[in-house]
Amino acid sequence: MFLPSERRQHVTVEVLLEEKTIKERIKQLAREIENYYKDKTDTLHAICVLKGSIHFFSELVLNLNMNVNYSFVHVSSYAGTESTGRIRVKSWVDEPLQGKYVLVVEDIVDTGNTLRYILNYLRKYKPADLKVATLIEKEKYQHGIPIDFVGFKVQDVFLIGYGLDYDEKYRNLPFIGYLKNDT
Ligand code: PRP
Repeated sequence: MFLPSERRQHVTVEVLLEEKTIKERIKQLAREIENYYKDKTDTLHAICVLKGSIHFFSELVLNLNMNVNYSFVHVSSYAGTESTGRIRVKSWVDEPLQGKYVLVVEDIVDTGNTLRYILNYLRKYKPADLKVATLIEKEKYQHGIPIDFVGFKVQDVFLIGYGLDYDEKYRNLPFIGYLKNDT
């Protein structure tokens, strides 16, 4: 795993997934998602997991040809490049979810700790159906959580951009990349 250190002078951003590649894959995911729900419901309840999922969520719902209700939860557990293992819920769903077709939209599933916590919590609302879409899944972890819609599977490198941050920086890069020490 890269450990980007800003104490070093020469750090460059390497591109892993171009903006065009991300957007094309999200269009495909939208078709997969529509296909799954088409015989089940005409209204999806999508939950954006802030902050990292903001751009993926936005692009995904704009590409879905069905009714989409929105909820936002704000959950975090990372300090720098490491999961603290402690999930902090900063805000939570405000809408009734019982009997709804719920899709949790994550930017990345890494250790799976955040998603496991969210799913366990959401099941208590008794949705009719609970599915997960993530833009990125790390290949490394055996988290055991079935993920229904996956954009990209990537190796274990600390990613930034398109919502993903390193200590709150780089979220607004239009592509996904990683930091590389030049020295
Ligand atoms: C990131 C990301 C996921 C989670 C994935 O959130 O957005 O929610 O970590 O990691 P995990 O599978 O190891 O739990 P983060 O805690 O960095 O908060 P943020 O979305 O506000 O950046």
